[in-house]
Amino acid sequence: MKLKNKVAFITGGTSGIGLETAKLFQSEGANVVLVGSNESRLAAAGKELNGNALLVRADIRKVVEIERAVEATRSKYGRIDVLFANAGATTVAPLEAVTEEYVAENLALNFTGTFFTIQKAAAIMTEGGSIVVTTSFLNTIGFPGLSMLAATKAAARSLVRTLGAELAPRGIRVNAVCPGAIATPFYSKIGLADATLSEVAASITQKIGLKRFGEATELAKAVLFLASDDASYTTGAALVVDGGLTQFWR
Ligand SMILES: NC(=O)c1ccc[n+]([C@@H]2O[C@H](COP(=O)([O-])OP(=O)(O)OC[C@H]3O[C@@H](n4cnc5c(N)ncnc54)[C@H](OP(=O)(O)O)[C@@H]3O)[C@@H](O)[C@H]2O)c1
Repeated sequence: MKLKNKVAFITGGTSGIGLETAKLFQSEGANVVLVGSNESRLAAAGKELNGNALLVRADIRKVVEIERAVEATRSKYGRIDVLFANAGATTVAPLEAVTEEYVAENLALNFTGTFFTIQKAAAIMTEGGSIVVTTSFLNTIGFPGLSMLAATKAAARSLVRTLGAELAPRGIRVNAVCPGAIATPFYSKIGLADATLSEVAASITQKIGLKRFGEATELAKAVLFLASDDASYTTGAALVVDGGLTQFWR
């Protein structure tokens, strides 16, 4: 078991990549803390974890709610060993449709929320701890309509370097996982009609070296590697899991 008796705090744990990672972590012996903003989705995810996870409702756009979630974890387990800062979402907005509110919303969830999740969780992490941040293939390429998601994810990639440097003296590693196109509920929330979504998915698939979307379970395995001692000499790095989407000429 790669995470025996470790305490793993997972944001965005109610769905997709976060939920599959929670299941894998639990099967590797971790005590899982699931964080999500919606009570009923949290309860449903808790059932998928056989009722064995600590479920904490927190909207990571609010620092006080992150603090409460970390405090609930400290009060039950005393510490966090593994942080998977994974919560994120966006909607499609081309240049002319972007408003001040849209920018603020994307920053709050995908950047500020991620930053304060790391700050608050790191305060109760100990030597040997590991932080994994979900960024995106949009770290390195542009995608029309997703300017704010791409910018906030690139900023999160940058955080991994700086906070990795700051936390290295405490023996805490910080890494990014960069998903490509992964089959999760993410796409049903981005505000595109089904027909447009299918067209976009088909055109992305053509650009993926392996010619298919990835599965959330494939991301979970990469996150487990970074979270566990298998990656004991890896910090500040980014593990790209995108079927070649950003790596091959096409
Ligand atoms: N799927 C992809 O192709 C892809 C590609 C690149 C990067 N990513 C990144 O991967 C991460 C996980 O996405 P996914 O694909 O697994 O999508 P997903 O299934 O939609 O999961 C997103 C998670 O984020 C949580 N969340 C959203 N808003 C939140 C808030 N304000 N506070 C707390 N939690 C919140 C959601 O929980 P509740 O709504 O229940 O709160 C959910 O658990 C995201 O950061 C996403 O940007 C995904």
